[in-house]
Amino acid sequence: MMNIAPFETEHFYARYEFNTPYQLCNSDCETVSVGELLDMADVSLEQLAGLSLGYTESQGNPHLRGQLAEAYPQVRAEDIMILGTPVEGIYLAARALLEPNDEVIVLTPAYDALINMFEHVVGTDRVKRWAFVPTADSWTLNLDDLRRLITPQTKLVVVNFPHNPTGYLPTPGQLEDLVEIVEQHNLRLFYDEMYFGLVHSGTQPVASAATLTKRAIVLSGLSKTYGLPGLRTGWLIVQDAELRDNLMNWKFYTSICPPAPSEFLATAAWRVRDQLRDRSIAQIEQNLKAADDFFARWPDLFTWRRPQAGSTALVEIHVPSVTELAETLAKDAGVLIHPGTTLGSDDRHMRMGFGRRGFSAALEKFEQYLKRQIDI
Ligand SMILES: Cc1ncc(COP(=O)(O)O)c(C=O)c1O
Repeated sequence: MMNIAPFETEHFYARYEFNTPYQLCNSDCETVSVGELLDMADVSLEQLAGLSLGYTESQGNPHLRGQLAEAYPQVRAEDIMILGTPVEGIYLAARALLEPNDEVIVLTPAYDALINMFEHVVGTDRVKRWAFVPTADSWTLNLDDLRRLITPQTKLVVVNFPHNPTGYLPTPGQLEDLVEIVEQHNLRLFYDEMYFGLVHSGTQPVASAATLTKRAIVLSGLSKTYGLPGLRTGWLIVQDAELRDNLMNWKFYTSICPPAPSEFLATAAWRVRDQLRDRSIAQIEQNLKAADDFFARWPDLFTWRRPQAGSTALVEIHVPSVTELAETLAKDAGVLIHPGTTLGSDDRHMRMGFGRRGFSAALEKFEQYLKRQIDI
């Protein structure tokens, strides 16, 4: 039996998310209730009550796919597959895109599945890491590093922008270069856009990769930007019919079709997506200001590389082990920080998440804890 590496990030949240009151590290944005969502989208509870709970169309509701496609120039409803969950898209891609001797290049650090699933399929030695490079106050990407990793066996490049955890967004020029490299070498590009549209003021937005190259397989969904992770709604954009058929075949083994209530609510949410996104950005920007002030008060303990987009940042802490600090903090102060080790970073980094309303209160508790340590 070929086993798979532990999904450390999800083990971590399974252990702490529902019993630690003050959380500083969530990647999703503040959510809404079903009632609030229906009100925003002008849909009545009776309409929801009338929904049939039969099986749904396996590729996803055609009306919803049409609405989604309208947001991506050149993409047609038939290019979109609605998934059972966003994370399922990573599993399906790893299964459908790769043969045993293929090589994969993954941007790291990364959400574990973006590394582990591909390693599971082709073997750990065939997955190469294209690593972010830290500067004094930000992260940088070197496209020459990517070019050097390509061999005749390379089949796939895996990226995620806006990036979890660094909050990096490439410039339009960098994205063009990335697309050129992929097309020049006839590679596929698995492009995770779960944080699409979460762009902070002062950052130049970039187009969806689905509109830049047909070699991209784009993953998107409602969990992060729109604050609706409980809907479990995600989709893949695949503009190659043969590949899409292959992905659909794998999906029959994992979820068959999307859950009917989720599709109904996702259709309502998509109608008010700008409102949901703007609400998330406003919360992130407010929390980033609190973070700026906090880090200015603790210059010796942290290196703050401010994110440009997305809902997270990767912050260096000058302690021997973030994992140990996280355990003590959760136990003694009820404050949750997320060790970067679960995301392929090291034990001197933590991921922070800025999308939740409770962030400032959690930051205050964290600071009180730090002050107590100095007093001891
Ligand atoms: C980059 C990235 N891709 C995919 C996912 C999976 O999304 P979901 O948890 O909604 O399935 C996450 C969740 O944290 C993520 O950060």
